[in-house]
Amino acid sequence: MGERFETRTVHIGHKPLRQVASKSTPIYQTSVFAFSGLEDVERYYAGEGEYLYTRNGNPNQAELALAVARLEQAEAGVSAASGMGAIMAGLLAVLGPGDHVLASHELYGGTYALLHKELSRFGIELECVDLRQRSSLAPHVRPQTKLLFMETITNPLLSVPDLPYWIGEAKRYGLAVMVDNTFATPYLVRPIQLGADLVVHSATKYIGGHSDVTAGVLVGRRDLVGRASEIVVNYGASLSPFEAWLTARGLKTLALRMERQCDNASEVARFLRNHSAVKRTYYPDPASTSFFHRGKQGAMISFCLADEEKVYDFFRALDWIKLAPSLAGVETSVSHPVTTSHRALTEEQRREAGITQGLIRLSVGIEAVEDIIAELDRALRS
Ligand SMILES: Cc1ncc(COP(=O)(O)O)c(C=O)c1O
Repeated sequence: MGERFETRTVHIGHKPLRQVASKSTPIYQTSVFAFSGLEDVERYYAGEGEYLYTRNGNPNQAELALAVARLEQAEAGVSAASGMGAIMAGLLAVLGPGDHVLASHELYGGTYALLHKELSRFGIELECVDLRQRSSLAPHVRPQTKLLFMETITNPLLSVPDLPYWIGEAKRYGLAVMVDNTFATPYLVRPIQLGADLVVHSATKYIGGHSDVTAGVLVGRRDLVGRASEIVVNYGASLSPFEAWLTARGLKTLALRMERQCDNASEVARFLRNHSAVKRTYYPDPASTSFFHRGKQGAMISFCLADEEKVYDFFRALDWIKLAPSLAGVETSVSHPVTTSHRALTEEQRREAGITQGLIRLSVGIEAVEDIIAELDRALRS
């Protein structure tokens, strides 16, 4: 080490700790890794070393990707800077110029925008298909069709496509299948077991669980995830070490959170169905979720007010349940699809989709269910 104060300030504290048995994973908050010599660099490029530069890989990213891959029973995984980053990498791992992709007509707005506005510029064509009832994919499949993309539980009307059926149907035509499992999580559904090739998560939601990170994870077939990992690196969509660490930390309590949130949601759905101020409640029914594990239906509910004009009063009357256009945190929150997630749709598109002014989306948290119900009841009576 140099003698002078300026040099010592930079180097004095640092000691690479290779063998410290910390109980929890440290945060590898570094953009680059040091090498003991050029031989070491050569070993990295020969595939023997793990880390070079954090955009290419970092232990915190790897821990998160491995954990989700294992929980989803997938061969491999990669993390990304957001759910959209993971979806982009998965789509581009399968699709190339001239390809045609089939997707559920009930699609998260960001995914629709990525396909419709961005990937279309690469000559990738999107066709939306209604997956609510079983039917044949034959009328939609062309020689260029490569992929079927769907969500386990859709947003905001919470319909559940018959995943085993649609995966079987896609396989008949040799299509790859990618499932956005954000709303269900591997606690409830493991699409890889059902034959899906790729599963993607906005880990910003239940995987992280605390509304304090933006992150994505893609898991699935080793060859496709390998290609997707290159895409994450080349497009600069890598997850930061701290965000990866927070997400992996949140993931540890996924089972506890999901159990509580799903149980709370099932009681809240019952309460809403019987409330005179509520016209309609959307919550997956057990008949459509027979392939879910644990007999639970998720923790998201949507409902429509009987008097749709009262929607501003409803939000104004809420006290501790916050209006927040995201979901899946430990805190119960509500959002208004018309003014937030589905704002970009025309009035006619919204009407067709059943997304009306009085529709409220509720993300049920881990609080005492009696308090959640009392707070909703107060706002509904306001
Ligand atoms: C079902 C679903 N998929 C993907 C995304 C995109 O995830 P992110 O916001 O982490 O990019 C979202 C975001 O709300 C989502 O709800």
